[in-house]
Amino acid sequence: MSNDEKWKVHNPHGDRRVVVTKGLPGVRWLEILIQAGCRVDVCTSTDILSTGEISSAIGDNCSGVIGQLTEVWGNELFSVLANAGGRAYSNYAVGYNNVDVGAATRHGICVGNTPGVLTETTAEMAVALTFSAARRVVEADRFTREGKFISWLPTMFLGELLYGKTLGVIGAGRIGAAYARMMVEGHKMDLVYYDLYRNSALEDYVAAYADFLESRGERPVTCRRAENVEDLLRVSDLVSLHPVLDETTHHLINAQRLKLMKKNAILVNASRGPLIDEEALVEHCRNNPDFRAGLDVFEDEPALKPGLSKLDNVVIVPHLGSATIWTRQSMAILAAGNVAGILLGYPAWKIESTLPFLEDNPPEAAPSIVNSEEMGIPEYAG
Ligand code: DGY
Repeated sequence: MSNDEKWKVHNPHGDRRVVVTKGLPGVRWLEILIQAGCRVDVCTSTDILSTGEISSAIGDNCSGVIGQLTEVWGNELFSVLANAGGRAYSNYAVGYNNVDVGAATRHGICVGNTPGVLTETTAEMAVALTFSAARRVVEADRFTREGKFISWLPTMFLGELLYGKTLGVIGAGRIGAAYARMMVEGHKMDLVYYDLYRNSALEDYVAAYADFLESRGERPVTCRRAENVEDLLRVSDLVSLHPVLDETTHHLINAQRLKLMKKNAILVNASRGPLIDEEALVEHCRNNPDFRAGLDVFEDEPALKPGLSKLDNVVIVPHLGSATIWTRQSMAILAAGNVAGILLGYPAWKIESTLPFLEDNPPEAAPSIVNSEEMGIPEYAG
């Protein structure tokens, strides 16, 4: 693919230049950037761009970039962007473990992300993985397609019932709490969560739901905050991971901790791959065929650790947590809003919900700038 084929230029005579390292869904995001007077250069290739390729795309004139979680945004790229006159970078993701925010701040670049539009979507993917693993959906699908369904059998593909059992959620932020509510309400699971911070909204929600169940003569569900990860792993039938990835959560689930889990537990990860020591997980799943895992993310994404794809007790999908049309279009709108907002000199939105940015008359603010305080961007005051 020649360089001209690799980059599609929109609004070529725009006053500012914005580089977008992957094609994004929908059209509204592009309109936002064009209305802000930007020429927009979009990479049409599906390959992961290297730091060198992104640097060349930035060149010596670039005001802002929308980049991907597959790219390493550190000192090198922020220095290139700053030298090209750049002031804004937005990750096309809520997570920004691929971004060195300190380096961006040092180079005078605002960093945005896309929270609030992928909470339920990602939690639903974690639910999908949960039941695919618990009820062996992928194994059974393969078996059926291969023409092996000859007779109904009382012993065929027996899985795990989750109704009324214990759910362990590690990381009870927006997505973890949404997943917890889905599993507690839908499947009457007792909740144990581990988080550095108490989530009183979640605790109150489960308590109110328990009262409701009791009023109907049903067993009330329970909720407690675990003292530590070990405590949660020992008691849970299902464990779902939702913390941010940083040096404190890298390999949060390792060989030792896997051994603490029930032999027939289910482990779900729709957060970030390096939370799990994937080699240890392969070994554990090999030795414990009743243990099951549902993974949306991988340690060396997009590569899988040797042996993972051979395991029948593991369900794997290619980082699809936020992959619904509405969410991916909304993420594009927020990312474009971050870059356009900073270039237009707008203040930073600090209100929890980012949904007003999806409406016809969005606020004149940058939806989510994670280093707004360090960058001295004033807070939106209405
Ligand atoms: C995110 O936004 O961090 C998600 O992982 C993308 O699916």
